[in-house]
Amino acid sequence: MMGAAMAHDAPLAPQTLAEDRLYNFAAGPAMLPAEVLEASARALVDYRGMGIGVAELSHRGPEFDAILDEAIERCKSLCGIPGNPDYDVLFLQGGATQLFTTIPMNFLQGSADYLETGEWAKKAIEAARPYGTANVVGSSAVTGYDRVPDGWTATPDASYLYVCTNETINGTRIGHLPHHPTLVADVSSEFMARPIDARQFALIFGGAQKNLGPAGVVVAIVRRDLYARIPKDVPPIFSFAAHAKAKSCLNTPPTFAIYMLLETFRWIERQGGLASVEARNERKATLIYDVLDEQSDFYRATVHDRPENRSRMNVTFHLPTQELTGRFLAEAEARGMVGLQGYRTVGGVRASIYNAMPEAGCALLAEHMRDFAEING
Ligand SMILES: Cc1ncc(COP(=O)(O)O)c(C=O)c1O
Repeated sequence: MMGAAMAHDAPLAPQTLAEDRLYNFAAGPAMLPAEVLEASARALVDYRGMGIGVAELSHRGPEFDAILDEAIERCKSLCGIPGNPDYDVLFLQGGATQLFTTIPMNFLQGSADYLETGEWAKKAIEAARPYGTANVVGSSAVTGYDRVPDGWTATPDASYLYVCTNETINGTRIGHLPHHPTLVADVSSEFMARPIDARQFALIFGGAQKNLGPAGVVVAIVRRDLYARIPKDVPPIFSFAAHAKAKSCLNTPPTFAIYMLLETFRWIERQGGLASVEARNERKATLIYDVLDEQSDFYRATVHDRPENRSRMNVTFHLPTQELTGRFLAEAEARGMVGLQGYRTVGGVRASIYNAMPEAGCALLAEHMRDFAEING
């Protein structure tokens, strides 16, 4: 097999993997498209008939450089900025959590505005404090992060406005993004789940491990004019400009994770792009929210008063008791659905239904919810 020419661009074989797989509702690392896994598995063993696998290629060699170029260009194209020289696509390490720190380290001068939509925005606010003033311009903490705060205004001289567009733990989503000249967004849990126009943002970032690939790589799209703001004493390894200059190869990048991103970008394009991915995600989320609304005496949706603020990626809800929650999860598992337990600090149930989750998985979950409520309600 090694060294044999493999048809890397040929249509993929029938999805044997897909047939045997469970519906994995985990929040991240999360379910990935079977086609992406199969193509990546083949490349892991033998990349394009080279006799070595993609994870064994030098990050300084021409093959990996071509992977990087294609990943950057496909990412730009999916995010509405094909060929746009004003933005860099960076593949970084240290998780989205590292960017909670490196964003203020690079770009906060004096103060920055933060919208506190949930646990992830809160962590970013705490990480910013050593670098200046983090103005919390709006917060839904008092109502348990059950909504996107409204009625807030940006501070005129703040360095940037920071938002988390989809709160993975609390299950909220900012439907209509605010306009701001320096908008910074954590899009980790909805990256490429709906159309994005990167030109609305100064910086977008997200950990790959939800919608885009395996853990270990963060995708950041950065508007180049921001680099002028970076203080001179920021060490290169934490500097967005240094990573951009080195085309994400300042040190050894997570090459295989980047390859999987590329396979996912190709897969998204084969799905018809972000508009069709979004339409499918809307249908999937509706299947589950419909049951929550029909059975609201039994299930309590975290985001109940403001349906327009509901995440289409992470549907969070509670059952009347912990005992019922435990049984709901166990019976779901027996029906082939795993990873449904809520985040460790909030409990309950969380269905993460990223791009790779088929509609049939959401339909099965909706059926399970109806059946369970009928018997136990
Ligand atoms: C919205 C959001 N931001 C940031 C993070 C942190 O990502 P990481 O674990 O890659 O640092 C997560 C993790 O789940 C997340 O959901």
